[in-house]
Amino acid sequence: MAAPGLLLLLLPLLPLRARADEHEHTYQDKEEVVLWMNTVGPYHNRQETYKYFSLPFCVGSKKSIGHYHETLGEALQGVELEFSGLDIKFKDDVMQTTYCEVDLDKGRRDAFVYAIKNHYWYQMYIDDLPIWGIVGEADENGEDYYLWTYKKLEIGFNGNRIVDVNLTSEGKVKLVPNTKIQMSYSVKWKKSDVKFEDRFDKYLDPSFFQHRIHWFSIFNSFMMVIFLVGLVSMILMRTLRKDYARYSKEEEMDDMDRDLGDEYGWKQVHGDVFRPSSHPLIFSSLIGSGCQIFAVSLIVIIVAMIEDLYTERGSMLSTAIFVYAATSPVNGYFGGSLYARQGGRRWIKQMFIGAFLIPAMVCGTAFFINFIAIYYHASRAIPFATMVAVCCICFFVILPLNLVGTILGRNLSGQPNFPCRVNAVPRPIPEKKWFMEPAVIVCLGGILPFGSIFIEMYFIFTSFWAYKIYYVYGFMMLVLVILCIVTVCVTIVCTYFLLNAEDYRWMYGLFQTSFYFGYMAVFSTALGIMCGAIGYMGTSAFVRKIYTNVKID
Ligand SMILES: *[C@@H]1O[C@H](CO)[C@@H](O)[C@H](O)[C@H]1NC(C)=O
Repeated sequence: MAAPGLLLLLLPLLPLRARADEHEHTYQDKEEVVLWMNTVGPYHNRQETYKYFSLPFCVGSKKSIGHYHETLGEALQGVELEFSGLDIKFKDDVMQTTYCEVDLDKGRRDAFVYAIKNHYWYQMYIDDLPIWGIVGEADENGEDYYLWTYKKLEIGFNGNRIVDVNLTSEGKVKLVPNTKIQMSYSVKWKKSDVKFEDRFDKYLDPSFFQHRIHWFSIFNSFMMVIFLVGLVSMILMRTLRKDYARYSKEEEMDDMDRDLGDEYGWKQVHGDVFRPSSHPLIFSSLIGSGCQIFAVSLIVIIVAMIEDLYTERGSMLSTAIFVYAATSPVNGYFGGSLYARQGGRRWIKQMFIGAFLIPAMVCGTAFFINFIAIYYHASRAIPFATMVAVCCICFFVILPLNLVGTILGRNLSGQPNFPCRVNAVPRPIPEKKWFMEPAVIVCLGGILPFGSIFIEMYFIFTSFWAYKIYYVYGFMMLVLVILCIVTVCVTIVCTYFLLNAEDYRWMYGLFQTSFYFGYMAVFSTALGIMCGAIGYMGTSAFVRKIYTNVKID
């Protein structure tokens, strides 16, 4: 019924992924090749970037270009390419040619001097291949400043495709106020043996992503997994079986031994474990969102493994947004059904909260950072039209899909089906040692999942903040799998300890502490919600399992 309509709604999203015309990456002889100017900024702080033409560079004489393209992912990352005005044609050599003149008045000179003092470099693109160049140079005593004025491009081609670009900066000119500086370029085309599929290889950094370290980290985590799985199965097999045995004996012994308390404590709280959480609304929304984040991570990593997503600007982000929108029913299904099982009535409210929790969090952070970016005139500010587009996706794609998921979830698995009845009056929670407090257990429990992923996190963060191209998605996949297993095991062990201390609040603290600001907080929270949801799923299966065999009355 609603499905075809929803598909139609999704259709406008598809071009986000599709390769646009310029991006066929094939050229005929003498066909126009566009040199895009991207950003300029300090070499030592690579997140701080400005538009290339925010420095008083001049534009070449060529005004019109055949086509322009931009994806949502690019716009969100603040990539806004500007045409350089240089006339470049496929397989057409250009001798050194002056393309424009900078009229160096005092203001312009100061701008260049500031940039050179701060080691500015700029970035350009040819056929999606990034090119970097240095703006200028200071002499040793820091009094004279020189600008590189001659861009020497060497472009390698293989058949009808561009496979390699080298830029050499030459023509050092001293910055003297009230002179004219001529900017020039040359293009040399060379036949190259590099295959088109391999043309990004020279940007990848195999020595940085040392495979030895990866394997070591995987091995490390793997041992942890074996240890934890062993621990969990030991608890399940031995302790539980013993507990059952004792419990059935105990039934004959009246209440005498019940005071022995925490030795087989989890039995005592059977009337409370399935009590709905104290904030079912936010809880089920978090669980739903976590499931969705898990689905998104899984799919995006698989897509990234199959297609080398790094070869196109912003394609990773576009893919993530598309997958996020498309997996909204997952969120609705798990959130909605959990909410229904917890006896919640305001399901429409729950659906709204569930659907907008993550988008609001991400957009809120982006909005805030955007303000700062605009204040500093940085190029990473997100254009207004893009924000509108994101809002449209939230309301017209994510929300309806979420609704479908919620309705499915409520109808298919919305019935409470707990193995034990819930007592009307909550049982008092006995005093216990400090290390059995939920807050302590939550923190300690977080150490193991963190330990299993932190090496990979190091690589991911470094590539995110320092522009290394991340490409070892196979490892990321392994780490995700390990993370899931570790999280589930740790949560089960922690829950078992809590229940044994007769604390029935077995899902109590959920958030990992987010220790970075801005995007880092979003990242951690998303990861925290994801781990929380995975842990919840695992441990709820566990709790159900152990209480299924309890005979009551
Ligand atoms: C670019 O530079 C590299 C390393 O110096 C060289 O191997 C390659 O052939 C150059 N490519 C072109 C197109 O000149």
